[in-house]
Amino acid sequence: MTAPDEELLESHRILAEHELLRREIRDLGQCADGLLLAASRPSWILELAARIEHLRPRLAEHFAREVECGFFDRLAEEWPNCEPACRELEADHYDLLVELDAVSHGVRAGRLDVGEAVRRTRTTLGRLARHEERENDLLHRTLEGGAPALD
Ligand SMILES: [Fe+2]
Ligand SMILES: [Fe+2]
Repeated sequence: MTAPDEELLESHRILAEHELLRREIRDLGQCADGLLLAASRPSWILELAARIEHLRPRLAEHFAREVECGFFDRLAEEWPNCEPACRELEADHYDLLVELDAVSHGVRAGRLDVGEAVRRTRTTLGRLARHEERENDLLHRTLEGGAPALD
């Protein structure tokens, strides 16, 4: 695919955001792991909720940009066999935000104990990391002009 300059810029911008988000995801994961060691101080669980709440709007903005820049639509149009993967990635956005909200709201409401909050946070972060890796793979392949791989 020979992408116009604007599309190239958007692709590079998304890749740069993925790099920043990767650090935040790692920090949040370390916070969750640390909580298991600090379980004798239940108030520390609020730190996990605060970090999720910090990441959440940045993630929502990133997801919205990915959809609005038309990356998924262009890809699906160019390579129709990629369409299911593109739609899956788009649907992930909603599911990931819902699960992060469920954890932070559950912690704030006292419905989740440390073990449950950490487990669900870790699961969601793992899913988020895989999501971004799939997008990175698609972005790199389209920037290189090759047909994207399907996984
Ligand atoms: Fe995404
Ligand atoms: Fe992304």
